[in-house]
Amino acid sequence: MHLTAEEEKIYEGEQGWAYQTAMKILVKLGDLFDAEKLIPIESAHVSGVSYKTLGDAPIEFLESLAETGAKAKVASTVNPSGLDYEGIMRSAVPETVKEKQEKIVELYKNMGLKPVLTCTPYYASKPKQGSHLAWAESSAVVYANSVLGSWTNREGGPSALASALIGKTPNHGLHKPENREPNVLVKVETDLKNEVWYGALGIFLGKNLMDKVPVIEGLRYPKEADLKQLSAALASSGMTSVFYPCSRCPKKAENLERLAVDGQILKKAFEDLSTCSEEPDMVFVGCPHCSLNEVRNVARLVQGRKVKENVMFWVCSSRHVKAKAARHIQTIEAAGGKVVSDICAVVTWLKELGVDTLMTNSAKTAFYAPTMNKVKVRLATLKQCVETACHK
Ligand code: F3S
Repeated sequence: MHLTAEEEKIYEGEQGWAYQTAMKILVKLGDLFDAEKLIPIESAHVSGVSYKTLGDAPIEFLESLAETGAKAKVASTVNPSGLDYEGIMRSAVPETVKEKQEKIVELYKNMGLKPVLTCTPYYASKPKQGSHLAWAESSAVVYANSVLGSWTNREGGPSALASALIGKTPNHGLHKPENREPNVLVKVETDLKNEVWYGALGIFLGKNLMDKVPVIEGLRYPKEADLKQLSAALASSGMTSVFYPCSRCPKKAENLERLAVDGQILKKAFEDLSTCSEEPDMVFVGCPHCSLNEVRNVARLVQGRKVKENVMFWVCSSRHVKAKAARHIQTIEAAGGKVVSDICAVVTWLKELGVDTLMTNSAKTAFYAPTMNKVKVRLATLKQCVETACHK
């Protein structure tokens, strides 16, 4: 990979160990994928924040980087953590876990990354169309490429952090127009009735498309939340990182390889995501973290109702969205629900809260929670989630 004179100096260590290490990570990655150069990025978004998923090993590495005083060179944000600032999880985990989790967030902060602790950083600051990014949260990657029109590869935590420190990323994969060209036409032959069907479609396509780039025909007037569910699910079960939604097949996609998806296929995908039919201990909405509109919808549905005493009802969102949703939060919390930021059900310690069964409207959570959280899952629409969480 060709480096400029200045990049070369960083590579040789002239700006210190942390920048040198970051540059070496990017060069290694670039060489691996035949990138010819580094390109500037508008922002970086780093995953690997929850101590539950990260573990001990990387803490020392983060510490060594932060110790040098190295700072992010572009706007940079971080994914949800295992603990929330308001303390909903505090009594559930031991002191050492709290300390380690706080340390991880502190280290990112020291390196100039904004502790937004959300997987939907685009609600706080929407990247420009056509801008190059280095984002690591897979649901946000697919959403940024497919809905926001930005360009990012699916980075890992370390490469996104390296990009944050250097302000650049290797020019390969989805940073190149030729790799963003669709190469398969997906024909959806049934009405996608709600967000759960979009999620089921994403899980099915992720498993069947590998890393192909689909035009998805038959998405009639999808809502933003539907496309977000589709993005998150697609990223969970496969490697596809960009899709093109449309109601009718565009001319350029007419001759592509085809994949038809009918109601039966989606029904099976949906049913496979539920591992139980029991009453849930927790009802969780907000994977990916809710937009203002979604928080408003939940508030509308729970208005005047009461959450059952034996059910935890969580609505996860970012602090940024919460700051604009005071009235809706009041409604949800008056009903007995909790609007929670900084964490989500998947990256926190559910068993420690006494959760064995989880109900959610997120296909991504349904896909991961049985293995990552060792809980049984029921996938259902937001409406059904609220119906189950609340007294009649
Ligand atoms: Fe976000 Fe957690 Fe889902 S990080 S995408 S809410 S699994």
